[in-house]
Amino acid sequence: MGQPQQPGQAEAEAGAAGSGAPPLRVGMVGYAFMGAAHSQGWRTAGRVFDLPRTPVLAAICGRDAGAVRAAADRHGWASAETDWRTLIARDDIDLVDICTPGDSHAEIALAALAAGKHVLCEKPLANTVEEAEAMAAAAARAQADGQVAMVGFNYRRLPATALARDMVAEGRLGRLRHVRVTYLQDWLVDPQFPLTWRLRRESAGSGSLGDLGAHIVDLAQHLAGEWLTGVSAMTETFVRERPLPGGAASGLSAVEADEATGAVTVDDAALFTGRFASGALASFEATRYATGRKNALRIELNGEHGSLAFDLERLNELEYHDGREPGTHAGFRRILVTEPDHPYLDAWWPPGHGLGYEHSFVHQARDLVHAVAEGRSPQPTFADGLQVQRVLAAVEESAEKNSVFTPIAV
Ligand SMILES: NC(=O)c1ccc[n+]([C@@H]2O[C@H](COP(=O)([O-])OP(=O)(O)OC[C@H]3O[C@@H](n4cnc5c(N)ncnc54)[C@H](O)[C@@H]3O)[C@@H](O)[C@H]2O)c1
Repeated sequence: MGQPQQPGQAEAEAGAAGSGAPPLRVGMVGYAFMGAAHSQGWRTAGRVFDLPRTPVLAAICGRDAGAVRAAADRHGWASAETDWRTLIARDDIDLVDICTPGDSHAEIALAALAAGKHVLCEKPLANTVEEAEAMAAAAARAQADGQVAMVGFNYRRLPATALARDMVAEGRLGRLRHVRVTYLQDWLVDPQFPLTWRLRRESAGSGSLGDLGAHIVDLAQHLAGEWLTGVSAMTETFVRERPLPGGAASGLSAVEADEATGAVTVDDAALFTGRFASGALASFEATRYATGRKNALRIELNGEHGSLAFDLERLNELEYHDGREPGTHAGFRRILVTEPDHPYLDAWWPPGHGLGYEHSFVHQARDLVHAVAEGRSPQPTFADGLQVQRVLAAVEESAEKNSVFTPIAV
């Protein structure tokens, strides 16, 4: 990587908050749901946290010139590109942020690493284990040149989940027995919802499994502090034919075109059990058919000394039960995770003034900037993303083989 240059006027207006820290010039590919969330993260991180480098929203990239220009203006990017190859070729970009569907993650990430850029890539890391292996290998090679690569498992970066991780690592739960995770949404309940990229294997890799299951596999392993060794799974596709989409689809919303339909080629729901290296047992459920559940990610960990429970729909709270307290007054207590000495919160609001979903992206940007400046590998690495990909592959293999217990490749 060359020495960073001073930002130009447009860059300064777009991203730098006036600190004396050298710029970190970001080029982001994709400008819809995650593009908006990551923009918020890059825009805000340097204004809230004292950072060793100042994120500069240098360039945003999409395929439609008008739409990407409008996204640049809306989200505060200094320039717009219509081909990610041009973005990567620019020598005024230090970091490439990949916010596209999974079918382009590997190609963009490999090209960006080869061009000497740092990389942030949305989850799941790739659509196949083979792609993820190539990405992890390229990231490991690039690390020798001071480049960093991180996967966007943002739910690690909420204060309550970060606190849960610390408490497990401190031994407050003792030996872990159970990890119970569900990630429930309902935006596919309507059989007329169109066949967007998330419902096609060639673009998404898998369905609820890769979309929601990847998050809960990562979070469960992160909080437990250990890896799954094998899984037993079943998957189902409830609605096998859907109307084709009309016009642009973004995130979880789209409109149908006409009467033409196409085949759904991914799972609608994935249920699996798993075994951790320590012998702890885990259960996972990922679905977009949980009528009434919007973004219900819930995780509970039970250990010999205590339990922890987190619910994304109440994300400023963590439930904790200390099993060593006398039974007469023991019970789950609600920790309001808004104190300045809770993770990330020294830079935010006074106690009780809670954070939201978007703050996980601010924290993601913050942590990545520190890793870049300090020349260390940011968590989760591409190797971590590859391991999650292997779990997803084992889930699919098990489901195909009538739920047979399937070891996770290492
Ligand atoms: N971390 C999270 O919580 C979270 C949430 C949603 C999605 N995601 C992940 O983020 C990624 C994107 O999902 P999304 O919901 O933002 O999708 P989206 O459909 O809202 O946006 C995708 C964007 O990528 C662009 N795009 C697609 N192919 C491209 C190409 N070849 N070149 C340039 N631009 C291209 C589209 O134009 C669009 O702007 C996926 O990997 C998804 O799994 C993560």
